[in-house]
Amino acid sequence: MSITYNEKSNSFKLTANNTCYILSVVSEGYLAHVYFGKVLPDENLNYLLRLDENPFTPETNNRDRASFMDTLPFEYPCFGLGDYREHALSILDKNGASTCDLRYKSYKIYDGKPVLEGLPATFTNSPDEAQTLEITMEDKAAELEATLIYTAFEKLDVITRSIRIKNVGQDNVKLTRVYSACVEFDTDKLDMITLNGSWARERALERAPLHHGKQSVDSMRGESSHQSNPFTALCSHKADEDSGEAYGFNFVYSGNFVSQAEVTQHKKTRYLMGINSNDFEWLLEPDEKFTAPEVVMVYSDSGLGKMSRTFHDLYRNNLVRGEYKDKRRPILINNWEATYFNFTAEKLYQIAEQASKLGIEMLVMDDGWFGHRDADNSSLGDWFVYDSKIEGGLKALVDRVNSLGMKFGIWFEPEMVSPDSQLYREHPDWAIQVKGRELTLCREQYVLDYSRKDVRDYIYGLMRKILDSANIEYIKWDMNRQLTEVASNALPRERQRELWHRYVLGVYDLMNRLTTDYPHILLENCSGGGARFDPGMLYYSPQIWCSDDTDAVERLKIQYGTSMCYPCSAMGAHVSDCPNHTVGRSTPFSTRAHVAMVGTFGYELDVTKISQEDRDSIPAQIAEFNRYNMLVRTGDHYRIGNMFEDNTWDAWMFVAKDKSEALFEFVQVLGRPNERSRSVKLKGLDREVYYYEESNPDVLLSGAALMQCGINIGGIWGDYQSKILHFIKK
Ligand code: DGJ
Repeated sequence: MSITYNEKSNSFKLTANNTCYILSVVSEGYLAHVYFGKVLPDENLNYLLRLDENPFTPETNNRDRASFMDTLPFEYPCFGLGDYREHALSILDKNGASTCDLRYKSYKIYDGKPVLEGLPATFTNSPDEAQTLEITMEDKAAELEATLIYTAFEKLDVITRSIRIKNVGQDNVKLTRVYSACVEFDTDKLDMITLNGSWARERALERAPLHHGKQSVDSMRGESSHQSNPFTALCSHKADEDSGEAYGFNFVYSGNFVSQAEVTQHKKTRYLMGINSNDFEWLLEPDEKFTAPEVVMVYSDSGLGKMSRTFHDLYRNNLVRGEYKDKRRPILINNWEATYFNFTAEKLYQIAEQASKLGIEMLVMDDGWFGHRDADNSSLGDWFVYDSKIEGGLKALVDRVNSLGMKFGIWFEPEMVSPDSQLYREHPDWAIQVKGRELTLCREQYVLDYSRKDVRDYIYGLMRKILDSANIEYIKWDMNRQLTEVASNALPRERQRELWHRYVLGVYDLMNRLTTDYPHILLENCSGGGARFDPGMLYYSPQIWCSDDTDAVERLKIQYGTSMCYPCSAMGAHVSDCPNHTVGRSTPFSTRAHVAMVGTFGYELDVTKISQEDRDSIPAQIAEFNRYNMLVRTGDHYRIGNMFEDNTWDAWMFVAKDKSEALFEFVQVLGRPNERSRSVKLKGLDREVYYYEESNPDVLLSGAALMQCGINIGGIWGDYQSKILHFIKK
């Protein structure tokens, strides 16, 4: 049993592989957090709560109940009761008061994992993969019930959390904050790791020791954002890739979020994650429920590397769905960086024709095929074919591409509308807007009000017509601006602040319809590069465009940061032309391929125009990708170099689960004069087993030597050079 209730200590223990998580119901019915970490024997750990430390005991000193409330490690802290640390829940009750007070009511334990209605979430493939604990709490005065939902995975160090709030009274209640998780740490000696950035430099890793007060990352942009990712790790100061304790938190949500750690007066840490409560309210009428999105919590006793691998395993097996879940993705060529808006059907066909001869398997037609779009200033929302550009029509183009033996994919930006569009002229009220205010233009476009079913139905109707008109096997779903003037013409005054969340639910609804109706289509999410690289999106699309920055060197950092919690197999990565369109750097074609091979792999260049030498090397690159893709998709990922610490080199590995083979990739970012070879220690191998490197089968080395002594990497001439080694068990 992975979840147990102990009547004597009135506590719950969740065991997930080698991790346990303990909660206890204390005096007055509060639910307290006892422990989260490496697995422990069954015993009473309530002493960790320090309930008997005067003057903080309610029974012995009721005068000081506020002090008690301000120090108890609450499992789900409420606003207004004297707990002055950051809270997880606040409301406006029928009288307009904000205080709430949740007390324990009941629990149930069952096999498997529930679906969160309308929301993406991890799932079990069979009920014996996990167990779920639901603890129901009640606030009698506010007439609310809150059900805390925990799932412990049997074979992974993963516990997931969410919460469902129900109005059990006769009056309306407003929720003004509903975070999904709170975890209390009995220490302040932790570092906080977050993934921050901007357009074209997403998910750069930052690490800093916690200090007194609140430190957080968040988004109020309507999407998870380029600027911050809904991921945080808290780890011991000494934790590195391979050792030390690390706790990873990832929010399965694609909208506004907050991730906050607070070091309190007694040098403890409260960590919170949830929907950003800024400009958030949710009206609950009698009997209505609100479900908050899921937080995935991973514990590692062996550093950040193990934490990441646990996330990768969970997401590959229990989050990503659909036909491509376990399949190699087609090698695509995308025309965006090749042509931008300046293309015709004939030009696309020429690219496809050349690409097909080299072994590329799919042509993706990017932005610019619809309405009268020749630049980014028109036609979003008019999802019908731009006839003079796609001469002969879409079906003719797709058929021609198919006749080359290639698949065909298409780009949409379904959430947007251009002011210069038939749609906007007919339905200006369908854009998100504040009545009487000028709308802010961003990339010359407005955001459609996806809280409205009529809007979603209309857009989906147009998309379906396109999808049904030709043999389309891939969609790139883009989203190129953030939200402003957030209000809806369709919501009543008292529900306007629900729009941020309703918008995200609307996006999920449409993605759900699309993936259900077109199960064969491979969906790739994208948001101006990687602004929506989050687990919510991964639930609908097995791959996400990682960044508009395709420069091989910049990608080393972006893919490193992304790998903190997201599997490499989900990272959209292409070989593009040089000088690179984002940074102007020229790197060898081979290095660009080696870096893109870590992800989904494809090309984004005009293959008819690149040098003959580069073109000729594509078949060999594809063969190399094919040889190693299984390892990338199913193996364990090990980070070896770290471009944030030393930007002269990088290295990583993928090791087969049975440790029978491993792919090692090395990039020399900057060549140095007069240097001896660099010793690089491999990871993840079997110590007892002997391995040879594929190109040198006569030399055997034990896993122990390869990991403890390392290999010598030298003789690489020049900047931006890469090297691949394939180790095979003898
Ligand atoms: C942003 C994406 O990240 C690019 O790959 C491309 O699809 C453009 N949008 C098209 O507008």
